[in-house]
Amino acid sequence: MEANAELRDEALARLAACTDSGDLRSVEKDYLGPEGAIGALLASIPSLPKEKRPLVGAAANRLKKELELALAEARAQLESARVAAQRAAGDFDPSLPPRRGERGSLHPLTLVRREVEGIFSSMGYDIADGPEVELDYYNFQALNIPVDHPSREMQDTFYCDEEHHLVMRTQTSPVQIRTMEKRRPPFRLIAPGRVFRNEEQDATHNHTFHQVEGLVVGTGIQVGHLTGTLKGFLRELFQREVEVRLRPGYFPFVEPGFELDVACPFCAEQAGACRVCKGGGWVEFCGCGLVHPSVLAAGFSGRDDVDVDSLTGFAFGFGLDRLVMLRYGLDDIRQLMGGDLRFLEQF
Ligand code: FA5
Repeated sequence: MEANAELRDEALARLAACTDSGDLRSVEKDYLGPEGAIGALLASIPSLPKEKRPLVGAAANRLKKELELALAEARAQLESARVAAQRAAGDFDPSLPPRRGERGSLHPLTLVRREVEGIFSSMGYDIADGPEVELDYYNFQALNIPVDHPSREMQDTFYCDEEHHLVMRTQTSPVQIRTMEKRRPPFRLIAPGRVFRNEEQDATHNHTFHQVEGLVVGTGIQVGHLTGTLKGFLRELFQREVEVRLRPGYFPFVEPGFELDVACPFCAEQAGACRVCKGGGWVEFCGCGLVHPSVLAAGFSGRDDVDVDSLTGFAFGFGLDRLVMLRYGLDDIRQLMGGDLRFLEQF
């Protein structure tokens, strides 16, 4: 029994000195393993006098159990010390939620589109939508652009299916006709969307870009309502008073038609020649005008519930990509649809 006590003290002292799982394994092997000290003790039993065997056997088994328990405790202590050290080093904390992968962000076009939608919504406008593959009728004819009319050449068209008169819409203006067909005046709406033109690309032109159409139909609508609305919108967008000017502009679906320019929002902030307006002081913003009577007639044709002759309206269409460029000071429109993550990750 003396020998057992010695073995026990020796084993416990070695366990107490263990600093890693490798140490623990070697203590386990030396005492509890098949060739270990307890094994040797048990193996010696048959050679003992018969009457001593049960006592020695029971004592050896108690010692074996005690050491197994002490080994499990030592293992648990070492593990919690290891976790505590990692936590202190800051690289592991099991109480934290799992790490997430990289998170995406909204595209600048989406950010500005949502902002535009928010401003017009607060001015009582609805948001409308239309198809990107459009009938020639909506993209051109109903907008007062008959077949073979020279103004079709103003917008180089991708024809999808000439037999079925399908085109990729070159502008968001067809949504004007589609909403007139569905709604009863008075109404006001904007229609943001993607448009396509068979054009050479450069720093300010893409073949696929985005426009925001605006349409207001009611009675007694004049040019002052148009400029007042666009000024109000720009004031909200740039968070300050913005000067605008109208120049005559030709679009077959408005009469009179204008190009609306914005006093360059960057000039005030820069000394010398401005990169955005090239020193001219004005930036082209949109095409606009009063809705042409033929367009109202086409959009509301066959409607008993609408007195077309009493109606007036204004419409505008601006390029969303150009607005994003203005907003973020970009100098090449192709960055927007280029899919380069180094660019997109900045938003
Ligand atoms: C139109 O498309 C008319 N539908 C606008 C309109 C609507 C006039 C309602 C009157 C009433 P325009 O072709 O000028 O007009 O295009 C409008 C805007 O789209 C331009 O001011 C410009 O900002 C943008 N835009 C035109 N072509 C491109 C292009 N290739 N790349 C990027 N933006 C363009």
